[in-house]
Amino acid sequence: MTNPQLPTPSDEALQASLALILHIRQAIHASGGWISFADYMRMALYTPGLGYYSGGAAKFGGAGDFITAPEISPLFGTCVANTIQHVLQECGGDVLEIGAGTGQLAAQILLELERLDALPSEYFILELSGELRERQRKTLQTLVPHLAHKAKWLDELPKQFVGVIVGNEVLDAMPCELVRFDGYNWLQCGVVENGSDLAFEHRAIENLKLEVACEGFPHIPQYTTEIQLEAQGFIAALAASLQFGMILLIDYGFPAAEFYHPERSMGTLMGHYRHHSIHNPFFLPGLTDITCHVDFSAIYHAANQAGLSLEGYTSQASYLIDAGILDRAAQMEIGSVEYLRMSTALQKLTSNAEMGELFKVIAFSKELQGKTAPGLGGRDRSGEL
Ligand SMILES: C[S@@+](CC[C@H](N)C(=O)[O-])C[C@H]1O[C@@H](n2cnc3c(N)ncnc32)[C@H](O)[C@@H]1O
Repeated sequence: MTNPQLPTPSDEALQASLALILHIRQAIHASGGWISFADYMRMALYTPGLGYYSGGAAKFGGAGDFITAPEISPLFGTCVANTIQHVLQECGGDVLEIGAGTGQLAAQILLELERLDALPSEYFILELSGELRERQRKTLQTLVPHLAHKAKWLDELPKQFVGVIVGNEVLDAMPCELVRFDGYNWLQCGVVENGSDLAFEHRAIENLKLEVACEGFPHIPQYTTEIQLEAQGFIAALAASLQFGMILLIDYGFPAAEFYHPERSMGTLMGHYRHHSIHNPFFLPGLTDITCHVDFSAIYHAANQAGLSLEGYTSQASYLIDAGILDRAAQMEIGSVEYLRMSTALQKLTSNAEMGELFKVIAFSKELQGKTAPGLGGRDRSGEL
């Protein structure tokens, strides 16, 4: 399915999308004609060689579909490094980045930790996409060749990890379930074949966790929303892995009261294709990013249940300012090209109208006793969770 108002994909990209649709159709057949939305999203994003993150789509930056904070400015990574340095002073150990994208954040963190004389022995990366692992390797070799040897790619979470685990815009890229209220019952949204297309088909909910979650949602006919069971399970897995240290997660989203507000009746599921918002999740599978906002209350409860302590929850603007972004910016020569570029980036990262308020930072810890880390000493919003 293409749209004449949007950039046309190349023949090669279109062929890859068609191959992915065939793969998804085979999975639907094999499952008796219906798969859950989370299974569809997992295949659309992570099927080896064909999924959005695992295939050849450009994804990040001007030529891609969206832009993330580390792609906007290295100032972002210097702030994250500031938090990391403080925590490593107390717990020692290493850094583990989840979902490292192009590798920009890894390069920024390593460079800043080197400047602060706080380099860990290893900078681990857990990345689902083979294509992105390769990009990360190249980015590090190009931007920080003398530090590239620090990076080690993992296939799974370490059994016992000490240090700091960091992830920017990872939770929103995890497959979510979709549910809908039909006026009488909550239904689970799934995916079926419809002629040559894919389409939604709703079924009675059989998963108890989904059923329980729906009890708290507004009972408004046609209200549709997402439940991020995979992201919640991932937090529990991080908690099991972390023995001593901190988990720092940055993403767009809200606490439950705002996420499941009666007026947000169509949920937050969205696609990104060449910097256009796409509202049909079946649009060019494999070439379109699919994402949903993060319910930070659910993440907090999952972490709490798994034995993690909440270190802080705040907006990205408050986090970056407390972590020293303005001090770093002030070191630049006023009027230089670099200064102008930095001012634009600062505005994007911290303005409430851009990423400053929509993006949140949540941090959890295990066994940490020390002072609040840079970034988490600003306006605390934990009461909203
Ligand atoms: C939206 S991108 C963000 C990339 C990067 N952190 C940035 O800020 O530019 C999401 C990233 O998370 C990765 N990812 C998603 N789920 C993952 C998981 N369960 N384990 C490891 N990586 C994951 C994707 O492959 C991708 O690299």
